[in-house]
Amino acid sequence: GKVHHHTWDIAYRYKSPDCFEKLAVTINGEFPGPTIRATQGDTIVVTVNNHLETENTGIHWHGIRQIGSPWADGTVGVTQCPILPGETFTYRFVVDRPGTYLYHAHYGMQRVAGLDGMIVVSVPAGVSEPFSYDEEHTVLLMDWWHKSVYEQAVGLASDPLVFVNEPQSLLINGRGRFNCSQSQAAGVGCNASSPECSLPTLFTAAPGKTYRLRIGSLTSLSSLNLEIQGHSMTVVEADGHYVNPVRVGSLFVYSGETYSVLVTADQDPSMSYWAASHVVGRDRKTPSGLAVLRYSRNESDPPRTLPPAGPAWNDTASRVRQSRSIVAHPAHVEPLPARPDRALLLLNTQNRINNRLKWAVNGVSLAFPPTPFLVSMTMKRGGMYDQQKQRPPPETYDYRSYDIASPPAANGTVASAAYRLGLGSVVDVVLQNTVALNGKSETHPWHLHGHDFWVLAYGEGKFDPDKDVAKFNLRDPIMKNTVALHPMGWTAVRFRADNPGVWLFHCHIEAHVYMGMAVVFEEGIDKVGRLPKAIMGCGRST
Ligand code: C2O
Ligand code: CU
Repeated sequence: GKVHHHTWDIAYRYKSPDCFEKLAVTINGEFPGPTIRATQGDTIVVTVNNHLETENTGIHWHGIRQIGSPWADGTVGVTQCPILPGETFTYRFVVDRPGTYLYHAHYGMQRVAGLDGMIVVSVPAGVSEPFSYDEEHTVLLMDWWHKSVYEQAVGLASDPLVFVNEPQSLLINGRGRFNCSQSQAAGVGCNASSPECSLPTLFTAAPGKTYRLRIGSLTSLSSLNLEIQGHSMTVVEADGHYVNPVRVGSLFVYSGETYSVLVTADQDPSMSYWAASHVVGRDRKTPSGLAVLRYSRNESDPPRTLPPAGPAWNDTASRVRQSRSIVAHPAHVEPLPARPDRALLLLNTQNRINNRLKWAVNGVSLAFPPTPFLVSMTMKRGGMYDQQKQRPPPETYDYRSYDIASPPAANGTVASAAYRLGLGSVVDVVLQNTVALNGKSETHPWHLHGHDFWVLAYGEGKFDPDKDVAKFNLRDPIMKNTVALHPMGWTAVRFRADNPGVWLFHCHIEAHVYMGMAVVFEEGIDKVGRLPKAIMGCGRST
């Protein structure tokens, strides 16, 4: 394959993506970052120059499995030391599967500041996909705060905790609209004359043509519903895997997920139409993100209709129904092992640990260690990753007596422990939701690094290993890298631990992973080979 070289200068710049001027992390001055385009089998080389003055960084290539390059995963504390201000780090990896992927900062909560973008991997010439279209466009969904990432992160670590609260706006391809006149600080910080402060065009359609929209969500908190007025969408790809086509009026998208949908321009071409993203899963306090689907290049007026209002934010049943409808395309089912070698039942809870509010998995809240796992686990001499000191995290919880609707006051622990998986073994993970300390149960989109998993089932209530395994879809499950854990429900996935390295599995809500909602999987560490020196230099990895 071809080798694509990119040089990225990462720096803060004043931007007004929703008309409100604030510092955003940019790539070569751009926000969001440029779309990386390549063909299956190509190599991507990105040289990152950190010009953030006072912040470290690290960039994760979300959905790229990093087979044979576990040190290029970009997960600070897991696969590498942070890239310090003034330093340069080069990522080199192969894009081995076609599909729609993402990239974003993976250091602290830095993604909130805007370091993100999309990766589009095409099929090689002569290879056809199980659908056709005339043109394609990317649609990157985000939520946006006016507080700095520093203020957000320090607030979450403070006692008492200061929560990030709801975003000020939702962005579509980096643009949104904050109602300056309605804000308390009326006018302050608003930059209505900025060219960024204008309604974005989703795309311009020619009547009768079909468009592939590659949609990705890198929201920090929000689950979203995306709707294009008057147009249905046919879902054909999810996280790089072909979907048995399913037609939807609107699409639910969780942070870390990507979808391709086909949209046919079959409506009155003398009109233009709203595209809108709406918060779901949390009481909606943020205005919807808006963009316009136009039918002619001359049409510059906004649509004459009102933007769609979106589904009820708390209609969980519709969201679960859509999740269940996403299964593998019949010609692209990836056969899966009939049973696992090992099963983990992971209880998601919000805990108070040492008087700090945390998120925990089976009572353990993950702390990113100063020495990255990949380094400490690879270095046998000196025993830097000490199994004795780091007791392996629990495989299950007391599911027989546990009440997910009123969890017992658990304190739990903060640890940097990892699950060690047999190389090549088949692992089932069932994620179990509960209510948080505020009495509500949230949606948690879980993302696995280094692998895709089969999505076996979405269930309601408490998972019962004796009964619910029978509900697993072993016939045509879709493979994904990010999956929703719905409120008061459970989600079951299966994967093959066949990628030597150390891999994070975590809730993709930036505040939640920051508060410990993550686990670490290690497999085949002795097969990893010589680590590049560039990932070292922190903790005891000098
Ligand atoms: Cu897109 Cu570890 O995340
Ligand atoms: Cu979460």
